Amino acid sequence: MMIEEKPALARPAPFKFEPHHFAPAAYNLESSIIRDILKFSNQPGVISFAGGLPGPDLFPVEEIREAADRVLTHYGTKALQYGLSMGYSPLREFIAERVAMRGGVQLSADNILVTSGSQQALDVVGRAFLEPGNYVLCCRPTYLGALQAFSFYGARYAPIEMDNDGMMVEKVDPVIRELHPRLMYVVPNFQNPSGITMSEKRRQLLVQKSQQYGIPIIDDNPYGELRYSGTDVPSIKSIGGQAVIQLGTFSKIISPGLRIGWIAASRQTMGVFERVKQCTDLHTNEFAQYVIYEFVQNGALDRHIERLKVAYHERRDAMLRAMSEFFPDTVTWTKPDGGLFLWVRLPEHADATQLFNSAIEEKVAYVPGKPFHPDGSGGNTLRLNFSNASLENIHEGIKRLGRVFSTLA
Ligand SMILES: Cc1ncc(COP(=O)(O)O)c(C=O)c1O
Repeated sequence: MMIEEKPALARPAPFKFEPHHFAPAAYNLESSIIRDILKFSNQPGVISFAGGLPGPDLFPVEEIREAADRVLTHYGTKALQYGLSMGYSPLREFIAERVAMRGGVQLSADNILVTSGSQQALDVVGRAFLEPGNYVLCCRPTYLGALQAFSFYGARYAPIEMDNDGMMVEKVDPVIRELHPRLMYVVPNFQNPSGITMSEKRRQLLVQKSQQYGIPIIDDNPYGELRYSGTDVPSIKSIGGQAVIQLGTFSKIISPGLRIGWIAASRQTMGVFERVKQCTDLHTNEFAQYVIYEFVQNGALDRHIERLKVAYHERRDAMLRAMSEFFPDTVTWTKPDGGLFLWVRLPEHADATQLFNSAIEEKVAYVPGKPFHPDGSGGNTLRLNFSNASLENIHEGIKRLGRVFSTLA
């Protein structure tokens, strides 16, 4: 019998993904410049003021270890199980009480949705409100992560100038009449990137405009509890009530790695947010929610925040002192009352992105300001973070930057 020789199977050519295989919104996403810069700033010997990282020396590692241990001992099977889309109820109650007490608003657990950091909260808001081509009214500059989150849903921006009192709300009328924005987005306390806090008068005016034109306000507030000088300003939510959607997070006051944030909003909006959240990831990490709830008991969170404030206050002052000592007169900067960032303005003709290469040669890193400007302006600005460096490195890093900036004059 003849055995017929089978022709060898032709190997399919290895599959190659082409741009048309991807959804345009995903394919066209730009990588965050901050992530790219962080790669440089991780090189040995570089003093980085680039990231927005909390000081790792201040993480409550032991307390989190003990909290995790208690969770596993007492609630192990529950904490490792699937949870509710809205979040772990005792943690939601804790957040509601804290936000209500600090912000002077009435809230219950029903008004809180726990998210995977406030970055996911921004994504949930984008999914819930935005259609391609919709405008978002925001500050110029504004938080880059919000621009990334909203841009995925096809947002365009109506950037409003800022001064030392935050967004110049008195300029919004013609912009709103022309572009009909779907949302107003602000970071009212110690803004990322500028460090500026919005004045009470401007907050009131923003709420008034929101009511007049029927546009919801997104009040993104990761830094509100980190105040080192001055006095608290009433929250936009306390002024605007139901129409204000406030975002919060434990990232800057406990740990960003745990990825626990929240949305505080009216019950009516919560129904939509809950369904959006459900189709995104079912629910936020249950174990991390239990651990945070265990950690915050008996005033531990307040004690921890007091420690953070003492340390960050010192770091902010050290940076301001060094800037006065080493920066040329042609450079100006903000003097924030809290948060993690300072904002620097170079002479008009300077290009902070180009200058970044000279900074890297001097082994010091910052984030150029342009990406925080949705209209591509701000080429002569940059952001400095003061929470993630030692006092010695702040002095030395600012001295190095002073050398870079003095070549500009
Ligand atoms: C203004 C603002 N919103 C949201 C976030 C996201 O924070 P997270 O997702 O860690 O809660 C940040 C982080 O730096 C921020 O500065």
